[in-house]
Amino acid sequence: MITPGATVNSRTVAFGNLPPHTSALDWIRDLGFTGAKEGCAEGECGACAILVARPSTTGDNTTEWVCINA
Ligand code: FES
Repeated sequence: MITPGATVNSRTVAFGNLPPHTSALDWIRDLGFTGAKEGCAEGECGACAILVARPSTTGDNTTEWVCINA
């Protein structure tokens, strides 16, 4: 079973039982990475954009990068 999580500054951290509406910013700051700052808090400035790497859906064994508002 794969445990959902992320790697932040070379540190792998499981998401655990996060409430579903936790923002990536709050999660990262709660880990102690307080250099991450909030910008507009409305999804307009792009400061909350993160890149997610996932296996490509084309089946060609490549990586697909998707930008999401986190
Ligand atoms: S703080 Fe501006 S998009 Fe998140």
